[in-house]
Amino acid sequence: MSGVKMLSEFITETQDDFPFATGELTRLLNDIVIASKIVNREVNKAGLADILGATTQENIQGETQQKLDVFADEQFIAALKNGGEACGIASEEVDEYLSFDSPRSQNGKYIVAFDPLDGSSNIDVNVSIGTIFSIYRRVSEVGTLATEADYLQKGDHQVAAGYVIYGSSTMLVYTTGNGVNGFTLDPTIGEFCLSHPNLTIPKTGKIYSINEGNLAYCSAAVNNYINYCKEIDASTNRPYSARYIGSMVADLHRNMIKGGIFIYPETTNAPKGKLRLQYECNPMAFLMEQAGGIASTGRKRIMEVEPTELHQRVPTIMGSKEMVEKLLSFYK
Ligand code: AHG
Ligand code: MN
Ligand code: MN
Repeated sequence: MSGVKMLSEFITETQDDFPFATGELTRLLNDIVIASKIVNREVNKAGLADILGATTQENIQGETQQKLDVFADEQFIAALKNGGEACGIASEEVDEYLSFDSPRSQNGKYIVAFDPLDGSSNIDVNVSIGTIFSIYRRVSEVGTLATEADYLQKGDHQVAAGYVIYGSSTMLVYTTGNGVNGFTLDPTIGEFCLSHPNLTIPKTGKIYSINEGNLAYCSAAVNNYINYCKEIDASTNRPYSARYIGSMVADLHRNMIKGGIFIYPETTNAPKGKLRLQYECNPMAFLMEQAGGIASTGRKRIMEVEPTELHQRVPTIMGSKEMVEKLLSFYK
């Protein structure tokens, strides 16, 4: 195994980069890794295991839950509850935040917010999906039940964040505020191995990702920018290429590696956009900024937005620095 760095080793070795390191964050990350391997296993055999398709339930946002949404949610909750390092969780698929009441969990210092499966509409058609997670230190007293204030911290307070992409290969990408590192799952040994050390997003690119079907509902700023993307200008590599998978994790992962911009803006029928601040946008924003990119609502940094409710939505613009700056110039 010479030359291969496994994720578990890497997490332990870099533990001291983290200001309050006592090993708890390391164990918490390892719990998340285990849950993601279980989800990966089920995603890979989904067509065989009667786990495709919709349930008869909806989540609090009125979206029909897919069987795999529910399965993934249960895996992450169980891993974090049993691990004892988290005092509670918030999930896209759970209406309210969930503070764990066992004495061991109440002594946990962290809360985790997650989107157990991102890109649910792609599950049944074998297109990449993902998991997104965000970790905060609790602000309430250790040894008590976690409170709402623990879950409604702004993105700048995150101590770690990451995503797993279940794609043509499975990768886990995370940050603890010292850059971004990516690990690819080697299915023959069941371990994530360091494949993308110190990931940085190119300063510019030629990919724009937006659901163009919504343009009629979008602002003049967004429409003008998309027109700009389509103009012919060899000196700036335009026209750009349109790529939209419909799984935020996959669209952002591609842009992170190749350079590009991802836009899910406010629209006339959804004035706050679609994507959720606490378990989709803040963790992706933390990764983007750590990789040298920008994450904005169009008006301010995403991580500066004060959350007022758990499932709050926020307009989202993320990606290569120069491309996002160009779009922001259309907002002015
Ligand atoms: P989820 O599957 O967790 O509900 O998230 C879906 C999100 C995101 O992944 C994607 O970028 C976006 O919804 C796609 O929305 P549209 O279909 O409106 O373009
Ligand atoms: Mn999602
Ligand atoms: Mn989801």
